[in-house]
Amino acid sequence: MKVAIVASEAAPFAKTGGLADVVGALPKALFRLGHEPVLIMPYYRSVARLNLPLEEAARIRVPIAGEVQHGRVLQGQLPGADCPVYFLEQAAYYDRAGLYNDNGVDFPDNCARFAFLSRGAIEAVRAIDFDAQLFHMHDWQSALVAPYLRLLYGNDPLGRAGTLLTIHNLSYQGVYPGWDMDTIGIDRRHYNMREFEFWGNLSLLKAGILYSGVVNTVSPSYAREIETPEFGCGMEGVLRDRDADLHGVVNGIDDSVWNPAGDPFLSSTYGPDDLSGKVAAKRSLLRHCGFTGRKAPLAGMVTRLAHQKGLDILAAALPELFQQTALQCVILGDGDNGIRASLEQLAARFPGRLAVFFGHDERLAHRIIAGADLCLVPSRFEPCGLTQLYALKYGTVPVVRWTGGLKDTVCDCAPESLAAGKATGFQFADATPQALTACVIRALDLYRDPRAWTRLMLNGMTQDWSWEASARHYLDLYAEARQSRGTA
Ligand code: ADP
Ligand code: GLC
Repeated sequence: MKVAIVASEAAPFAKTGGLADVVGALPKALFRLGHEPVLIMPYYRSVARLNLPLEEAARIRVPIAGEVQHGRVLQGQLPGADCPVYFLEQAAYYDRAGLYNDNGVDFPDNCARFAFLSRGAIEAVRAIDFDAQLFHMHDWQSALVAPYLRLLYGNDPLGRAGTLLTIHNLSYQGVYPGWDMDTIGIDRRHYNMREFEFWGNLSLLKAGILYSGVVNTVSPSYAREIETPEFGCGMEGVLRDRDADLHGVVNGIDDSVWNPAGDPFLSSTYGPDDLSGKVAAKRSLLRHCGFTGRKAPLAGMVTRLAHQKGLDILAAALPELFQQTALQCVILGDGDNGIRASLEQLAARFPGRLAVFFGHDERLAHRIIAGADLCLVPSRFEPCGLTQLYALKYGTVPVVRWTGGLKDTVCDCAPESLAAGKATGFQFADATPQALTACVIRALDLYRDPRAWTRLMLNGMTQDWSWEASARHYLDLYAEARQSRGTA
């Protein structure tokens, strides 16, 4: 199938979180299954700095706020696959330091920037003569592709292409004032409850949900959760209306990037048959943290610094854990400055027990996932979560909150599940420091039994979370999406 994948980030070109990992990996998996995907994304300043070998494939003209914006379509390739990537170059929109914001403050013209991505993607597909049978959009930034196709390209063969919208995180909804209908270039008569209007504003995500043939999230549990007020972020009614077309597909692992047997960021690689490289990875991580005492259990967390991720829950649990156990902890994070400041203070209180590093650091992310004994994911909600999946593959036992994709990917360790070879980690139900503390203590009790612990590690390491199964699931949804028109 010919599939145009449109997204605002993709590894290894531009990344703020797991969305990039998914968008970088899925086209390669589709390609390996014999399909013809192309990826379309913005040409950010950070992409330009990579000095990729690119060729101009086309020029596009995109009406935004009643004016024509010009752009260039630059063709490159996804590393490790014969799969084309088309970067939309538009300097006024994308030649900036951040992807979405400057120092935590969203760019004021994000609505225009991502309307340009969505309509520009359709224009690019036309200009390069790619006969797309399906457009696969990701989150609010490319959600407008579906309404654009229906409302503005009805006379074009592309207007008949199927549409699938993947929601990676419902808490980001692309909400703007109603007058931005003019920015996106859609007639104001579509500003109503059944289309673009959302609690008195315009929501790009809502329009995408209602206009797309099929919608999915990144785990079955999160797909059900978002139909409830607790997780629905005000969109639960809209999602319940689309219940029959709302699916959950768990993300996979791109093992050309995340694989302890060939990880270029590690000084010695390892696998289930020989764990000595993991011991070396821990030693080197401890040195990096300035920690001594190799026998103590080491917990790691790699995360965006956002309320979602429960860093405040962890910060409130750590003093008690440091008092009751020998635990050491390392956190790598990027994002909110307030969360950063509180972690810095905590690290200053507990030298030798807590090390914190800030910024986006791919190399350190790999070293933590490999070198830690436990991987902490105390999220308030988690659509899928990737660090616990990477941790499983690296023999680092996940300690996760029982929510969303964390529910679907980690099997809690109890005597029966361990004996049955099923247990892979530890789960706790309540989003409280007490529940997290009790769960870590439960994990550390098992850690004292090296044979049982190794068994738990190996259970996780030998699971198959490769992209192939998820890509096949997406192909089924593509087929379904080609038969469906959405409900708008
Ligand atoms: P989310 O997409 O909500 O941020 P995921 O667990 O799905 O959460 O994906 C997070 C991805 O981002 C993982 O690949 C993780 O390694 C990476 N990551 C998060 N924070 C950092 C950071 N500060 N430096 C490097 N990589 C990071
Ligand atoms: C989002 C979610 C995360 C998910 C990722 C990739 O950022 O927060 O749970 O793994 O997207 O789908």
